[in-house]
Amino acid sequence: MERMSQSNVDVSDMPRGGFDASCLDRLLETDRLEYLDREDVDPGVKRSVVRALELTGEWFGNHEKFAHIALDEVADVPDPRVLELGAGHGGLSAKLLEMHPTAHVTITDVEPESVAAMAAGPLGSDERATVRLADATEIDSADGSFDLAVFALSFNHLPPAKAVRVIAEGTRVADKLVIIDLPRPPAPLHLVRLATMLPLAPFIPFVHDGVISSLRSYSPSALRTMAALADPAVTLELRGGLLSPQVAVASRR
Ligand SMILES: C[S@@+](CC[C@H](N)C(=O)[O-])C[C@H]1O[C@@H](n2cnc3c(N)ncnc32)[C@H](O)[C@@H]1O
Repeated sequence: MERMSQSNVDVSDMPRGGFDASCLDRLLETDRLEYLDREDVDPGVKRSVVRALELTGEWFGNHEKFAHIALDEVADVPDPRVLELGAGHGGLSAKLLEMHPTAHVTITDVEPESVAAMAAGPLGSDERATVRLADATEIDSADGSFDLAVFALSFNHLPPAKAVRVIAEGTRVADKLVIIDLPRPPAPLHLVRLATMLPLAPFIPFVHDGVISSLRSYSPSALRTMAALADPAVTLELRGGLLSPQVAVASRR
């Protein structure tokens, strides 16, 4: 809190576990990028990771679970306007449209290949859906254009200074921003999680990216720091964690 009262906090120095992270927790992070975030990776490898996310989201019910989390936040809005950031494959937006008969959804990603693939699929021809390119750190929409913005399994991809921008931008263009991401467990449990994934990481791109996501996941303390830096008017509600996804709901007072 001491640091947050200083206007010149350099958040780029912040550990993923937050400024109060333990020594062990500070070791459990990496600057290594996921295949999805690298320019030098064959687009086919990136597509395989996005496809694996889509399939595992279907098999384990994540798209539906995340759609419920998002829709709960606009339960009192009759015809909600929803913005999905970092949609990748669009599985969450497809569920939102299926579960809410009058919702309008703008489905975006920063990766042109992912946007083109979503636009070429069923979302591209759904009259309640708009598919387009958008960078979550610099959203080209007017203030208050949406009732809700949702960013699923993507926040950990961004370094702290950019993550702060997502909170500022998401709460500017939408009344609420819902961030759903991997929880950052206490360090000993985190080690166990990593140990189960590491043996397969060199062979399966999806697991490789999962290990890096885990190492780059943010703790509740880090999320609170970033929300405060995005704008002092931002309030943050945190839910979930440990065995379930971490959910952060940000809005401006
Ligand atoms: C792990 S995927 C998650 C995809 C999907 N949301 C899901 O839940 O499976 C992360 C996504 O975030 C996107 N992404 C990364 N940086 C972004 C940014 N600055 N703005 C928007 N999307 C971004 C990537 O292109 C990728 O599609």
